[in-house]
Order: sequence, then C-alpha cells, then structure tokens
Amino acid sequence: MARTSQNRSPAVMQQRSEPDDSLDFFPTPPWGTRALCEYLARQWNLENQTVWEPACGEGDMAQPLEEFFKAVIASDVFDYGFGMVFDFLLTQMLKPEFLNEQPDGMVDWVISNPPFRLAEDFVKEALEHVRVGVAMLVRSAFLESIDRHEDLFMKYRPYVILQFSERLPMVKGRLDKKASTATAYSWIVWTKRGLSEGSNSRCELEWIPPCRRTLERPDDYPAHPDDAPPPMPLFEKEAD
Ligand SMILES: C[S@@+](CC[C@H](N)C(=O)[O-])C[C@H]1O[C@@H](n2cnc3c(N)ncnc32)[C@H](O)[C@@H]1O
Repeated sequence: MARTSQNRSPAVMQQRSEPDDSLDFFPTPPWGTRALCEYLARQWNLENQTVWEPACGEGDMAQPLEEFFKAVIASDVFDYGFGMVFDFLLTQMLKPEFLNEQPDGMVDWVISNPPFRLAEDFVKEALEHVRVGVAMLVRSAFLESIDRHEDLFMKYRPYVILQFSERLPMVKGRLDKKASTATAYSWIVWTKRGLSEGSNSRCELEWIPPCRRTLERPDDYPAHPDDAPPPMPLFEKEAD
C-alpha cells in the first residue's frame, strides 16, 4: 500500500495555511454557489438585482451567479482571463468605473469566496458597497478566533450562517470533480437591514441540505483525461 508521510488528519487539514503572498486561488465548485442562490432566491428577487464577485478567479462562482442575478460584475487582483483586474481592498481609494455608473455608487450584493487570509477585510470592504447584503464562502473554522469575535462578528452581526451538510471539495488552482476534502465550509450572509438592528439582532444557523446531485451540471468542470471513454478497438479481436 502506498504511504505518505504527510499528516492528512482532519485537524491538520483545517489549518491549511498559505504563504503571505499567495493569492489563495481555490476555485469554487459551481454547485456550492447555486446552493447559496437557491437560499437567497426564497427571500429576494435576485433576477432584479446586481452582484459583484470581487475575487472571481477563473469565473467559477461568477458564472453560476449569472443564472440567478440580473447583472454580475466580476473582478480579481490577478488576470486569470475572466473579468476585470482590480484589487478589491483598494476600492475606496480607486473606485472602479462600474460603481460610479450605478445611481448611488452601490451594487445590491457582493458575493465571493475570498482569500482566507483576507476574508475579514473583504467582508468589511464589501459592506461599504452594497444595498442589500454580502455573502462570503469561508471555511467553517472562520467562525472561531478571539480577534474575529470582537472585530467582526460582534460589530457586524451576520444575518445567517449556512453550513454545508455535504463536503464542498476545493483544491488549489483547479476545479476537480473527483477531489475530496477534510475541510468544512459555510456561507456567511450579512444584510444591511440586519446590521441596522445592531449587535442585538439574531443570527440564524441553517444547514444546506445535501444538494450536490441536484445542483451539479456535467459542464461545470473542465474535461478531464480520466473522464474520456476508453478508446474503442479499431478491429474486433478474432476468436482463437
Ligand atoms: C479562494 S480563490 C476564489 C476564486 C473564485 N472566487 C471562486 O470561487 O472560484 C480567491 C481569489 O482571490 C483573489 N484575490 C486575492 N487577493 C485579492 C485582492 N486583494 N483583490 C481581489 N482579488 C483577490 C485571488 O486571485 C483568487 O482568485
């Protein structure tokens, strides 16, 4: 049996850390974004609303957002060949043109899977630019930490935390249908209305029911050589 010295225990996998200069590019399987939109669509008319995906990578989250929203704006600090190139954390200093084109300089939603290391800054920045709300896909371990308790969750009370009951496998640098993961993920949603109620507002916890089978589409993933059918023999083997 092949052995590896790497410790792959869940406890260790939860602590995955990236170098400080890493872009932390972990594309989101599209079914994970559809699961969020299905939830939001129960309360909001997304087909009349605009959303900004400010860390869009290769567009694996922006594209399923297009299935639900009237308009999707996509940007990333790095040029992956999808969306605009823009450092989200500089938005207040360098307001992008599309925000100036909105009547009030805002979009309805900011939705993203931000780099883990910058996720708290992304949430705070995003809240400055929305009319309705912000949804961020994070490792569920993001809910822990003494600093975030004080600086984020007590000051900016989420409206709802949506915990995936099924694992959402993400791997560095590519979408992989066959990937597995020991890391738990959830969506955290903040609403402007909820925030206006202050730190006493209630934060709900909901579970996203298993949904991969219903929300996944065959063309969500790049063709993988292993997925190709085995080559057909050109000639039938003759009987001995
Ligand atoms: C976890 S990946 C998610 C990619 C994409 N949102 C998705 O879900 O498929 C994080 C992304 O954040 C981008 N990023 C890192 N720092 C950024 C910044 N300051 N402004 C905008 N994008 C940034 C990275 O280039 C990377 O594409």
